[in-house]
Amino acid sequence: MAPIVSVSNLSKTYASGFEALKGVSLDIEEGEILALLGPNGAGKTTLISIICGIVNPSGGEVTVNGYDVVREFRETRAMIGLVPQELTTDAFETVWNTVSFSRGLHGRKPDPTHIEKVLKDLSLWDKKDNVLRELSGGMKRRVLIAKALSHEPRVLFLDEPTAGVDVSLRKSMWEVVERLRASGVTIILTTHYIEEAEEIADRIAVINGGEILLVEEKAALMTKLGRKQLRVDLAQPIEEVPQTLLSYKLSLEENGQCLIYDYDTSAERTGITALLAALAEAGIRLRDISTRQSSLEDIFVEIVEAGQ
Ligand SMILES: Nc1ncnc2c1ncn2[C@@H]1O[C@H](COP(=O)(O)OP(=O)(O)OP(=O)(O)O)[C@@H](O)[C@H]1O
Ligand SMILES: [Mg+2]
Repeated sequence: MAPIVSVSNLSKTYASGFEALKGVSLDIEEGEILALLGPNGAGKTTLISIICGIVNPSGGEVTVNGYDVVREFRETRAMIGLVPQELTTDAFETVWNTVSFSRGLHGRKPDPTHIEKVLKDLSLWDKKDNVLRELSGGMKRRVLIAKALSHEPRVLFLDEPTAGVDVSLRKSMWEVVERLRASGVTIILTTHYIEEAEEIADRIAVINGGEILLVEEKAALMTKLGRKQLRVDLAQPIEEVPQTLLSYKLSLEENGQCLIYDYDTSAERTGITALLAALAEAGIRLRDISTRQSSLEDIFVEIVEAGQ
């Protein structure tokens, strides 16, 4: 199946001369949730803005469902919904009008039933007659999401949708995202809450310095790069790691009370059995052992640091 969004060799140099994207290529499959992760200034918003037709590319090509985002702007715009990172709303317009008007802007006929459903899904129904300046920050963000959903897009971009949003609203927003996915909508999101990406995304792309460092199925990424840590609590503190154990590259922590052993879950041998035997041989008695699986956050930090 052809990808719904295809980005090829995309570059962007801003008027200031800053090169924000350096030859980015990325295919997004219909119906998937792709999380775009990267530190501040990585180029996430620039990439999304070009796909959505808000920023012009300096080079390369982007198509949405086969239509070019520059030459066939009208077609691509109708298919795309964008929840922008920056809050820009018309302070004196009502919630209902803002969201209904947005549908019209995307060339769709009025559909009050759909607008009502969107507002109810986002718990904005009781605010529909309020003007935007009367809403809280989190509610304004929900209005941006409602606007993006007003014209029933096939591809939805969420640029930091949960920044400044409280925990319960974040949960309900992700439920909306899940429902959209179930209805076949393709979703591309950026977030700095990596645990959210870990929970919701099918694939993860990591971008830094205007370059895609990695695109991978989340599950594969977790096992491929997933490391585990074995923590050994000692019955008695030790001053240094014994000579016979140097090959394990252990780190001695917590005033000599605890040894940490990093190992690779995909390695043929983790070395744990041999390590425990060597500890016994060295006369070190254990109080407890536990393991910890690295999270997507650890993996992310590792990739970004390795790329620098
Ligand atoms: N209009 C502009 N003119 C000049 N430089 C810009 C402009 N917009 C963005 N940049 C620069 O391009 C780089 C990428 O910015 P972008 O907003 O795409 O990053 P981001 O990954 O979305 O970061 P964040 O996580 O902070 O939202 C940054 O160094 C930024 O300063
Ligand atoms: Mg951004």
